[in-house]
Amino acid sequence: MNLKDLFISYFVSKGHKQIPSAPVVPENDPSVLFNTAGMQPLIPYLMGEPHPYGKRLCDYQKCIRLTDLDSIGDKTHHTFFEMLGNWSLGDYFKKESITYSFEFLTKVLKIPVTSLAITVYEGDDKIPRDEISAQTWEQLGIPKERIAYLGREHNFWIPGDSGPCGGDTEIFYWRDQSEVPKVFDPEDERWVEIWNNVFMEFYQDEKGNISELSQKNVDTGMGLERVMAILENVEDNYLTSIWEKPRKLLEELSGFSYEEEPIAMRIILDHIRTSVFIAADPAHIKPSNTDQGYILRRLIRRAIRYARKLGLDISSNWEEQLALCYINEYQDYYKELKENKEIVLTVLKQEKEKFNRTLEKGLKIFEKVSQKTKEIDGETAFHLYDTFGFPIELTIEVAQEKKMKVDEEGFQKKFLEHQEKSRTASAGKFKGGLSGNTEKETKYHTATHLLNAALKKVIGSSVHQLGSNITEERLRFDFPCDHKMTEEEKKEVEDLVNKWIEEAIPVEKETMKKDDAIKSGAECMFIEKYPDIVTVYKIGDISKELCGGPHVTNTKEIGHFKIKKEESSSAGVRRIKAIIE
Ligand code: ALA
Repeated sequence: MNLKDLFISYFVSKGHKQIPSAPVVPENDPSVLFNTAGMQPLIPYLMGEPHPYGKRLCDYQKCIRLTDLDSIGDKTHHTFFEMLGNWSLGDYFKKESITYSFEFLTKVLKIPVTSLAITVYEGDDKIPRDEISAQTWEQLGIPKERIAYLGREHNFWIPGDSGPCGGDTEIFYWRDQSEVPKVFDPEDERWVEIWNNVFMEFYQDEKGNISELSQKNVDTGMGLERVMAILENVEDNYLTSIWEKPRKLLEELSGFSYEEEPIAMRIILDHIRTSVFIAADPAHIKPSNTDQGYILRRLIRRAIRYARKLGLDISSNWEEQLALCYINEYQDYYKELKENKEIVLTVLKQEKEKFNRTLEKGLKIFEKVSQKTKEIDGETAFHLYDTFGFPIELTIEVAQEKKMKVDEEGFQKKFLEHQEKSRTASAGKFKGGLSGNTEKETKYHTATHLLNAALKKVIGSSVHQLGSNITEERLRFDFPCDHKMTEEEKKEVEDLVNKWIEEAIPVEKETMKKDDAIKSGAECMFIEKYPDIVTVYKIGDISKELCGGPHVTNTKEIGHFKIKKEESSSAGVRRIKAIIE
């Protein structure tokens, strides 16, 4: 049986319910680009909201971590990975959690106890030393000299700067051919962490104040790739069965063996896999120059450059073959890969074609500059970005290979100048009008906020704007929803919007710091897109969104709202077209 299945069936046998993996792009958390841990979609439930599936949960969660992007190419890092996790939401605590982890590793996976070591939290002035966890490990058969107490930087876990948090206990495995040392030295890198059990009993706010949560939770996370490497006794994660098919395919496509070109192959394998999962996500990310779209662009373009280095014919359908291989491998676990297969292939192909057109020319610039100097100045770096589609990170990477430097500050300056120029140009173009919007379009803007709010009430709180477009004639609004709206639902939405229009609610505009806006609960899809000072439009207590506007000053100005069409936009995404009469 597969490790994911073994994990789930073990925890289900212990009374846990399996929850589906959440999308890689968080649905209701604009503060991060991607889910980085299994617990991220569970934050409200760790804070006390009852989970519809109960108090014991388990899953495998798709995660993307970008902190390690530059490390990709070594044996153990991946941008995309799957995290196996189990949770207790105010149910069991330390003893049971540790016992489950121990039993799963040693009885189900049959990992020898003698290869394991443990760290526990040594405590601080507010939180006591975690004797209970240490005692539990000892009772289970871990010798004292294999248990180390460590401080906050190692054994305290919090998602980012604030949120539910607590001390943790981490399980390490001796990943080396030499004899396992009797005494555990946490500094020795041959001990690799495989599983983290976090005891989330606190909440930390942005200022660092810690308070007790209303319930004591357990949040665990185990890296699938690492454990597979252990079970299959390989030191290189990319040599596990997880990568076997795509690795062999890439060998075939390039004519090189993996041993000959491990770094380039790992980068291509990793980046294409992550790109497949981003492009297949219900958020429908497309390569672009901002946020998740920029990451997708960077990953695809970097993979293309390495494909070229391996001598692949970059105009061939190599990326499609690899993507199909991943889709086949993962589709039984993640159905969006099957559903969005065509989207994924199109995204990769179009981005490849776009970059193929300019890659060679861009690389020639490097050749030319390198004959004269050892530095790519800001202007050239910006030219490479703007004209040849080189993400700045790629320019830095190519420069490093040629032992050249890049004037990154100069690039940023050029970048900002350019932004400023386009802003002024568009401001000039729209001078006189309401930022270029006609009166009708302004009404549609406000109607869009009301529609978003009404859909949340009728369909559910997971509704948010995935896309929106306004013309003189209509508004268009895309949102996540797993079913065709019924006639009743449509009517209910229409009636709500019209009721709010009739109530003549003032639309208030406020300028504030972005952080304060988010803290105040204002809705916003891509937080990074906005400058530090933002405008928030508030319609009574119905809607509050970060938005550039413009809007009417009172809902009564809108007129009568009517849904003209409700249709599928793509898998899991519905599209409404509506008019104002
Ligand atoms: N949330 C914990 C982690 O990511 C389990 O390590």
